[in-house]
Amino acid sequence: MQRIALGVNIDHVATLRNARGGVHPDPVRAAHLAVQAGADSITVHLREDRRHISDHDVAALIRHTDCRINLEMAATAEMLTIAQTYRPFAVCLVPEKRQERTTEGGLDLHAMKTILPSYIRDLQSCGIRVSLFIHPDAAAVALAAEMGADVVELHTGIYCDAHHDRDRQTALTQIKNAAESAKNHGLMCHAGHGLSYATVREIAMIPAISELNIGHYLMGEALFCGLELSIHKMRRILDEARGLAL
Ligand code: PXP
Repeated sequence: MQRIALGVNIDHVATLRNARGGVHPDPVRAAHLAVQAGADSITVHLREDRRHISDHDVAALIRHTDCRINLEMAATAEMLTIAQTYRPFAVCLVPEKRQERTTEGGLDLHAMKTILPSYIRDLQSCGIRVSLFIHPDAAAVALAAEMGADVVELHTGIYCDAHHDRDRQTALTQIKNAAESAKNHGLMCHAGHGLSYATVREIAMIPAISELNIGHYLMGEALFCGLELSIHKMRRILDEARGLAL
């Protein structure tokens, strides 16, 4: 099986920095370290309320790193202008609610049917790869393909949060089916949300998934063992899952 790419989400480096309002810890420094440790791309979510990553962070990451930046954002006019200005390697469109702690679900593509196709085209015309964050569901995958997306990112939250084995297996089957469906539609398939050392292996073993985006767990582990080691360990599990570990 091919190597699976690891996108490291560094939002919570900014969460920690913002707790004191200064410049430490610096997301750009975290991005450099993450790449050294085996990250293939760096993900940041620029939220409407700027609760972690700021516009300045996005600009600094684009200017001061040479890694692929995946910008997560809501499909708003404000965010389109920002993406057109900074031109990250990729944009992942996500649903956003002010009250939520994190991105709780996938996009409601039905409700966005009239606005998304031209929004996606506007991003693609700047050379940006466009991903849609969706619930792992064949109908959503088909709609994403119809709308012209390049990638679907499957929400793994239900799988990761399942308390019972039967529920976890049901969620895993949904993810496998959605990934297969993405492949059949000619879409790249990514996945993420809530992944940890314990939950990532089975997701990484799904051959149609080419990239995982992981943030909160890696940052939490970094408190105990350092950012490089926390990412290293994840990288190793991904390689083992694909039979590539040395
Ligand atoms: N993918 C997307 C689209 C997300 O919104 C998030 C959370 O910001 C993640 C992946 C990473 O989730 P986690 O921080 O739980 O690893």
